[in-house]
Amino acid sequence: MDAKISLILAIESSCDDTACAILKNDQVLSNVVAGQEIHTQYGGVVPELASRAHQSHIVPVVDQALKKAGITKKDLTAIAFTRGPGLMGSLLVGSSFAKSLALSLDIPLIDVHHMHGHILAHFIDIGLERPQFPFLAVTISGGHTQIVKVTDYHEMEVIGTTQDDAIGEAFDKSGKMLGLGYPAGPQIDQLAKQGDPKKFPFPVPKAPGLNYSFSGFKTAVLYFIQREVKKNPNFINENLVDICASIQYTLIKILFQKVEKAVKQTGIKTVAIGGGVSANSGIREQLKSYENIGWNTFIPPFEYTTDNAAMIGISAYFKYLEGYNAGMDVTASPRIQM
Ligand code: KG4
Ligand code: ZN
Repeated sequence: MDAKISLILAIESSCDDTACAILKNDQVLSNVVAGQEIHTQYGGVVPELASRAHQSHIVPVVDQALKKAGITKKDLTAIAFTRGPGLMGSLLVGSSFAKSLALSLDIPLIDVHHMHGHILAHFIDIGLERPQFPFLAVTISGGHTQIVKVTDYHEMEVIGTTQDDAIGEAFDKSGKMLGLGYPAGPQIDQLAKQGDPKKFPFPVPKAPGLNYSFSGFKTAVLYFIQREVKKNPNFINENLVDICASIQYTLIKILFQKVEKAVKQTGIKTVAIGGGVSANSGIREQLKSYENIGWNTFIPPFEYTTDNAAMIGISAYFKYLEGYNAGMDVTASPRIQM
């Protein structure tokens, strides 16, 4: 095989998706994700059940990724995995599997920070323009809400973060109050399309600097629903689309207030969003609208927005080019910092 060509097998198992992707340099040959239905009935991810499901999914998912890519494991040049942050039991499944595979094939093992993955997903070759450094990455998921100043593939500084809940939790927990299943984010997105975003005004919380806070918003939604349901037990059913539209409208407002502030403060007008919540159609539209005032905006394709292993593979690729090898001592790290 040509020495310049890398074939990286990447594994992502930080939360409730078991994912494997194969990348040939910066191109994705296969990208397989197995979700975990089991959590729906509990209204959130149950860590113990997640690690068990990863155990049963990981071999078939890896097999399928290799088959779809049309290669065998002997062709691989490196193995990548998500080191953290995430759930310990879930991370252990992916990291142990990756270690064993790298050891048995005697090829480099590359650990990746999950949030770096969400950011570097923008560098997967899909035939489109990629962000130029420096840029601001807005990473919004079920576990994170961050504004990150990205100056190079491995140089990232968190300049704003949430002090409590992540925006994905705000979507999911509000949805749970409305009786929607987990994760509620995509359902709120769909229902919001038919509703009036200004029907029910919710408060925009105050957080210092570029930081976020969503816990007050969540409480406001809870009190609002309790109050209205007391007056009319059928309130949720009768107003579901308007409540969803109003929730989404406010969350978008909270999100972009700080993004606008970050652009002003840093003078950086290139903004790229990533993480599961960037699948939200309202957020996508809002970001695009800033192109009119001279921002350069980037939104990854859907398959690279929610948790996936292709984003882990592309992050590993840039480390691989520098000759990086984590070695066998590397451990899963649930609370690893950026
Ligand atoms: O990045 P991700 O797949 O997993 C984490 O690392 O958390 O993000 C999952 C989050 C969930 O909170 C889910 O509700 C949210 O992304 N999400 C959405 C949409 N699609 C996924 N939230 C709002 N609108 C969507 N369309
Ligand atoms: Zn994620």
